[in-house]
Amino acid sequence: MTLVSLLTLASVAAASIVAPRLPTYLSKREISINTSDYPAYTIGKLAWSYVQGLFWRNIPFDHYNASDNRTYSNRYWINDQHYKAGGPVFYFDAGEQNAHPLVAYFLHEASGPSSVMTLARRLSGLAIIFEHRFYGDLDSNSSPFPVDATGKAKAGHEAYKYLTTEQSLQDPVYFAHHFEPPGLERYWSLLNPTYTPWIWLGGSYPGIRGAHMRVRNPETFFATWASSAPTEAAVDMWTYYAQAERSMTRNCSADYTHVTNYVDSVLANGTHAEVDSLRLELYTAVQSSPGGKSPSNINKTEAESLSNVDVAYYLLLPLSFYQYYGFEASVQSFCDIMETFNQTHVRTTSNGGTARSLASDSGIAITYNITTAWQAFLTGIAEIDYDSVTSPSPADPLQGWSWMWQYCSEYGYYQRGNPQNPHTIESKFISLESFQASCDATFPGGLPSSPNVSIPNKYGGWHINPSNIMFSSGEFDPWRALSPASIERGSPNRTTVQVIPACNVSPANDTIFGIIYRDMVHVSDMRALLNTSDVNHQNLSTVGFSSPISTEPFYAGMSLFQGALESWLPCFGNGTYGRDMVSQFPGRL
Ligand SMILES: *[C@@H]1O[C@H](CO)[C@@H](O)[C@H](O)[C@H]1NC(C)=O
Ligand SMILES: *[C@@H]1O[C@H](CO)[C@@H](O)[C@H](O)[C@H]1NC(C)=O
Ligand SMILES: *[C@@H]1O[C@H](CO)[C@@H](O)[C@H](O)[C@H]1NC(C)=O
Ligand SMILES: *[C@@H]1O[C@H](CO)[C@@H](O)[C@H](O)[C@H]1NC(C)=O
Ligand SMILES: *[C@@H]1O[C@H](CO)[C@@H](O)[C@H](O)[C@H]1NC(C)=O
Ligand SMILES: *[C@@H]1O[C@H](CO)[C@@H](O)[C@H](O)[C@H]1NC(C)=O
Ligand SMILES: *[C@@H]1O[C@H](CO)[C@@H](O)[C@H](O)[C@H]1NC(C)=O
Ligand SMILES: *[C@@H]1O[C@H](CO)[C@@H](O)[C@H](O)[C@H]1NC(C)=O
Ligand SMILES: *[C@@H]1O[C@H](CO)[C@@H](O)[C@H](O)[C@H]1NC(C)=O
Ligand SMILES: *[C@@H]1O[C@H](CO)[C@@H](O)[C@H](O)[C@H]1NC(C)=O
Ligand SMILES: *[C@@H]1O[C@H](CO)[C@@H](O)[C@H](O)[C@H]1NC(C)=O
Ligand SMILES: *[C@@H]1O[C@H](CO)[C@@H](O)[C@H](O)[C@H]1NC(C)=O
Repeated sequence: MTLVSLLTLASVAAASIVAPRLPTYLSKREISINTSDYPAYTIGKLAWSYVQGLFWRNIPFDHYNASDNRTYSNRYWINDQHYKAGGPVFYFDAGEQNAHPLVAYFLHEASGPSSVMTLARRLSGLAIIFEHRFYGDLDSNSSPFPVDATGKAKAGHEAYKYLTTEQSLQDPVYFAHHFEPPGLERYWSLLNPTYTPWIWLGGSYPGIRGAHMRVRNPETFFATWASSAPTEAAVDMWTYYAQAERSMTRNCSADYTHVTNYVDSVLANGTHAEVDSLRLELYTAVQSSPGGKSPSNINKTEAESLSNVDVAYYLLLPLSFYQYYGFEASVQSFCDIMETFNQTHVRTTSNGGTARSLASDSGIAITYNITTAWQAFLTGIAEIDYDSVTSPSPADPLQGWSWMWQYCSEYGYYQRGNPQNPHTIESKFISLESFQASCDATFPGGLPSSPNVSIPNKYGGWHINPSNIMFSSGEFDPWRALSPASIERGSPNRTTVQVIPACNVSPANDTIFGIIYRDMVHVSDMRALLNTSDVNHQNLSTVGFSSPISTEPFYAGMSLFQGALESWLPCFGNGTYGRDMVSQFPGRL
């Protein structure tokens, strides 16, 4: 395997820590669409600046300081194609990324139905995408402060101090109460959340925000679909890879664990020569191409300069796409090569042949020894070519800085290796200290000594339990560990049920209203990718980041949420909405 883009040598040398990033929604194939064909609007009370259909709105920098009169423009996009007076607003939160590339897929369904448009069609609603403060394009964004060419706010933490959970939650509230989209002037007063139900949809961090909103501003957002929402902020998120480990075949998990422990012990206690030799072997495998093609020149100086953290991240390469594709589509091929000693094509009883299977059930380290397991692991690293998958995700420079600020200051999610976990597949050299050091180096002097997770967790964390909300999760989503559907030790271990709770009534505290998609991973349901040339979405080079590996979660989640809305909407506005809806949309409710 040659180097993946996340881990170019430059970035390994400079900042070894890979940000615990939540996903982007787009695939490589899809970003070839020209987004200027999908222009936007923004929020701005007096002076609309209409730039390619994008609307801007002036929002206060600081919602909590009446003497600070500074405002900034925040971008949003709408689709009113199905809107009829009285229909709900379906608000899709773009969260921690540039919202612009999402527009084609979520508001214009460029590659299959989206949740927000499906609901707008069904209930004659207005569909919106709202960009989060401090995110966007380099030259056109929703940042209150100017950014430099790398996307970082020029004012540093003096700017980022306005990027907080509370300021960012107040933005959509302010927006909803000042929503005056051009072209829809005659509906302006009707569209106020007092008279029109605003429904929040979001996956991952936007899902957390939607859940917070139902606790914080139920008068503004009437209902929420929160997909894959890790509502429990935590500094220590060693459980991230625990989900991936659980989804692996047992022999692969066993060998991954043995190899991780082996590497850790060599790095900690090996002689210089042993450590150098391990680094060189690993670096050579990483640089190799499929077909056993070794690089003609390995620069030993480079290999020997790898830090322990660099080595630790190389070990995780086979898991790079796990959260988007899950085990079968992104890790199994690696496991097969390792467990069969690269003899995947030999016909055995495991694949319909007659010869004894090559892979042992207990794994190589136990059946043979760790030396053999390590060599098999290296062969897997050498043979799998992630290049086709790893072509850069849509470049999003603002995201790099802004999300890092957010997790360093309030959310944590440090995905460290936990040596106490008997099944750890992540090196202990990726530690809480290494994450904190990287945060401190990036924002010197601006951060608390550790992320202050009590700020977001005041909304309930794992225990969050507002009314009118549906939580959906992938069974093996690494972020499930910190979601209300978590089954980790220490979590409330709530049960997910499909019984729709009554309007404005929270379900029992030990339950969650929602759905868990079997075998699925992170945000598998906010849209359906229909691609008939690759129905199983096995071709990672065209599916790209975060695309659904199956369309079923979308349809399952949609139908449950739609059922919930049909039950909840009639109680909006003290029951007046139900009557209006019936006359407005006869036969619909
Ligand atoms: C995208 O569309 C805009 C406006 O139609 C056009 O000016 C621009 O050249 C297009 N970009 C590409 C890469 O096709
Ligand atoms: C509030 O804004 C005023 C005017 O910009 C500023 O002087 C003051 O320091 C701000 N207060 C706080 C607590 O940030
Ligand atoms: C904002 O506040 C400053 C100082 O408090 C004042 O000079 C300025 O005129 C105000 N701007 C607006 C648009 O109200
Ligand atoms: C290194 O050796 C020490 C002393 O024998 C032992 O306690 C420790 O667990 C070893 N570290 C690793 C990572 O194996
Ligand atoms: C894996 O098997 C392929 C096909 O037999 C072979 O070309 C390649 O050299 C092997 N790779 C390694 C690293 O042994
Ligand atoms: C090896 O890499 C180092 C550091 O990148 C560089 O200075 C050196 O010139 C390289 N050596 C060779 C032979 O390419
Ligand atoms: C062992 O590995 C092979 C190849 O990856 C796999 O097909 C098989 O299911 C695994 N067996 C167990 C018990 O994990
Ligand atoms: C590990 O097992 C292999 C395969 O059985 C064997 O050839 C090798 O000598 C063993 N190595 C050690 C250190 O036991
Ligand atoms: C964390 O935030 C809470 C709530 O804002 C605050 O009371 C507390 O002092 C903060 N803790 C630290 C260590 O900054
Ligand atoms: C969670 O609950 C299930 C039954 O609902 C139980 O089997 C499991 O052991 C519990 N897990 C934890 C970590 O408490
Ligand atoms: C559910 O949890 C909330 C918040 O912790 C608490 O106020 C409420 O009493 C609980 N309800 C029941 C029925 O236990
Ligand atoms: C609903 O009832 C409350 C309490 O009577 C009232 O304050 C509120 O204005 C009513 N809302 C609507 C939309 O009629």
